[in-house]
Amino acid sequence: MLLINKVLEIREHVKNAKKEGKKVGLVPTMGFFHDGHLELMRQARKECDVVIVSIFVNPTQFGPGEDYEDYPRDLERDMQLAEEVGVDVIFNPSVEEMYPDGFSTYVEVKGITGKLCGRSRPGHFKGVATIVTKLFNSVQPDVAFFGQKDAQQVLVIKKMVKELNIDVEIRTVPIVREEDGIAMSSRNLYLNDEERKAARILYRSIQKAQQKVQEGERDVNSLKGAVIDMISSEPLAKIDYVELLTYPELEEKDVLEGKMLLALAVKIGKARLIDNAILEG
Ligand code: PAF
Repeated sequence: MLLINKVLEIREHVKNAKKEGKKVGLVPTMGFFHDGHLELMRQARKECDVVIVSIFVNPTQFGPGEDYEDYPRDLERDMQLAEEVGVDVIFNPSVEEMYPDGFSTYVEVKGITGKLCGRSRPGHFKGVATIVTKLFNSVQPDVAFFGQKDAQQVLVIKKMVKELNIDVEIRTVPIVREEDGIAMSSRNLYLNDEERKAARILYRSIQKAQQKVQEGERDVNSLKGAVIDMISSEPLAKIDYVELLTYPELEEKDVLEGKMLLALAVKIGKARLIDNAILEG
């Protein structure tokens, strides 16, 4: 497995692979791998001849007071795990490589970024769209893989790729959960034992909503209310948002019809956790 730090080098590597007719897959990450990341890599391995994983903790997607400095980092461990699932190249640029002095060009997707995490974390998706564009331009993959846990992020990236005519296919990989239902996330590391137990309330409340839909409930406020009540019963959990919006447009609606995204963001201790499910009416 190769470790590349420079844009020109990764570009050259991919150019040569493509000359040989190889299909190139990119898995963009911020590192500190868990099984959710490894699943993205496995999917990429199945579909592509060359699998590139980028590891870059992107400063522009963290707001003031968020966890940029504390975000867990362990390149050696990540390299070992990536090698085990058959990754070919780790692209690990420095902050200076991606954002040289005087950097002033950003990509902004309007509309859907004003909701859910975009509302709670102003500027977050501008940082994501900018770095993902830079990664796509640096690596020029044929296919890129993202996790459905970040459902809004996937929608933002798909819209950006379509509207900016970026020549890459986006694959979405389902949420990977721990045995107790908690969605895998690098931020689960921030939870102590008690908080970890409390974090189970996110998926349990999603299951509750799914059960209510199965029983015939279609009223959006009742479904949201059931989720809010359940999360509120957990003293360590502080709701940032609970939303049920049309999917993929992310618009409000009173009645569950077609596909809608149930999305939650909940603070437990130091961790802000997100989870989601598509409900169908
Ligand atoms: O999902 C992530 O880990 C990040 O938002 C991404 C897509 C790698 C951009 O920094």
